[in-house]
Formats: sequence, C-alpha cells, structure tokens
Amino acid sequence: MNRNLRESVEFIRHLINNGGPEEKEYDNLTRCFNNFYYAIKRGIIDYDDIPKYWTSFRKVFLTVNTMQGFVVLKPHGYAGDFEIIDRIYQKWCSPDKGLTKWDLYFHERAAVKAVRNRKKYFINTMSKLAKEKNGALSILNVGSGSGRDMKELFESLDESNISIDCVDIDKKAIQYALKLNKKNATKLNFIHKNILRFNPQKRYDVIWSAGVFDYLSDKVFLYLLKRFQKWIKKRGYIILGNFSLKNPTRPYMEFGHWFLIHRSAEMLVDLATKANLSYRQIAVESEPQGVNLFLKIKF
Ligand SMILES: C[S@@+](CC[C@H](N)C(=O)[O-])C[C@H]1O[C@@H](n2cnc3c(N)ncnc32)[C@H](O)[C@@H]1O
Repeated sequence: MNRNLRESVEFIRHLINNGGPEEKEYDNLTRCFNNFYYAIKRGIIDYDDIPKYWTSFRKVFLTVNTMQGFVVLKPHGYAGDFEIIDRIYQKWCSPDKGLTKWDLYFHERAAVKAVRNRKKYFINTMSKLAKEKNGALSILNVGSGSGRDMKELFESLDESNISIDCVDIDKKAIQYALKLNKKNATKLNFIHKNILRFNPQKRYDVIWSAGVFDYLSDKVFLYLLKRFQKWIKKRGYIILGNFSLKNPTRPYMEFGHWFLIHRSAEMLVDLATKANLSYRQIAVESEPQGVNLFLKIKF
C-alpha cells in the first residue's frame, strides 16, 4: 500500500473511532476518497480491491443505517435505486446518533446536492411548461423512481391538468411511488416495464428522464433518443438528465461502487446531433452547481 493510501485508511479509522467527521475534517476525508480514486487511475489498486476496505470500515460502510452503507450494500440490487434517491431528497440521517455525522458529510457532497437540485429543476420546468399550455401537460417520466418529484410538483400547483405516464423497471419503485402519490393517483399511470421495451399508445408534451441516461452507453442513449422523437407532440420537449464530467463527488461515489457515465455539455449535444436533431433545437441546461446537466430538445 502506498503512503497516501495508508494515511487515508488511518484517517478514516480515526474518524470511525471518533464518531464520524466534524465539518472541519470534511476536506481531509474527501482527500482520502480522492486518494483511492487516483490510486485506481494509476493502476496501484483496482475497483475490486475496494470491498476489503469496506470490510475494514464495516461499522459505517457495511450497514444500511448510513447513507454511504446503503450505497455500498445496494439492497435493491443496483446503484441509484428509488430508496437511496428518496433518502437524498429527504436528507435522511441515521437514527443511530453514533452514525449521523457520516450522513451529514454525505448530504454536503456536490453530487448529492445536485440530485436535490434536479428535483427543483423538474418542478420549476414542469410548472413553467404547464403554464405555457394553460395547465394541461402530458408527461412521460422515464425511470420515475420514488415519485417524490411528482408529489412535490402537484403540491406546488393550485390546479393543473398534468397527467404523467411513469415507466419504471423496478416494481418496488412503482409500489413506493404509488403510496407516496396516493392523493394524485388519478393523474398518474404507472407502467412496470423496461423503457427499451416500451411502446406508448399516445404522444406527449414532455418526455422527462433523470438518473437513467447516465447509466446508458452512447449506443443505447442514441437508440432511445431516436425512439423518443416519435413519441413527442409538436412544440413538445425531450429533457434528459446526465451527470457532468465536472463531478467532484465521483471518487466518493466510485469508492461505493456507484458508477455513472459522466458526459459534458458538448458530448450531450454531439449525441443529439447524431440522433438527427438540429443545433437550433438543442440546449443544455444545468442545476446551479453544473454537476447535473439537462439535455433539452425542442420540437
Ligand atoms: C436514479 S433513479 C431516478 C428516479 C427519478 N427519475 C428521480 O430523479 O428521482 C432511476 C430509476 O430508473 C429506473 N430504471 C433504470 N433503468 C430503467 C429502464 N431501463 N427502464 C425503466 N426504468 C429504469 C430504476 O428502477 C430507478 O427507479
């Protein structure tokens, strides 16, 4: 083990023994995760070597009672499930007081804030588009997850005629979102399907997807973007979220084996043009930190 890694391991052990990081220790802790990342990039260690460090830090990293542990254990079988995202939205902190400081550190990471910001972006964008259409908007929500963003959208509007078709591959995500959105059940239609096998019977004003395309290869990204164009109404929008290359939290996420395909604004525009869209239709928007980008295509 090189010196940087040895010191990082010692520092994390020290924090575990002291009940978690204080705010003044955040930068040092972040440096530790960065050291692991650089060691991987330099070929000193491998991603497959990381689980042995989780075992060594098991109190924090091998329990669903911390945010980081939930990321590592992936109780729903995949990274970025509806439950971890909903914990992020709610700034969930462990009821075990000895672990709370780790969750406070987690919630201060740029990528985590970007997820919360994308919920705001969703609510603002959809409210604005609904206004433009005099309250009536039909949305296809691809990978709808926990549905907290939709719940808060409906709560933020006095009255609206928004209807949302929600496609999700995870049955448990649908059950969770249904429960959360009981009040607006008539406005929502849940479809348990892989989006790759979905064939809608109607066209939409908006096709929205966040937290999905940054798991897809360019080939699948393009395949779906081409298909979506057939499902969109005149003057409609396709809006796709994707994490940016400027994600300072990437080392921390990858320490927890949470891997994304990060893309720059230029990469997103390039993909859109490859899907036969013209430059004047394409815009790339962002949440305030520039960590979560949104490819926005107008028809
Ligand atoms: C990271 S979560 C994001 C949820 C929600 N869009 C949000 O921003 O809160 C991703 C969701 O997409 C779903 N998903 C992933 N791949 C999918 C696919 N191929 N078809 C349909 N749903 C998918 C997952 O089951 C999960 O619920």
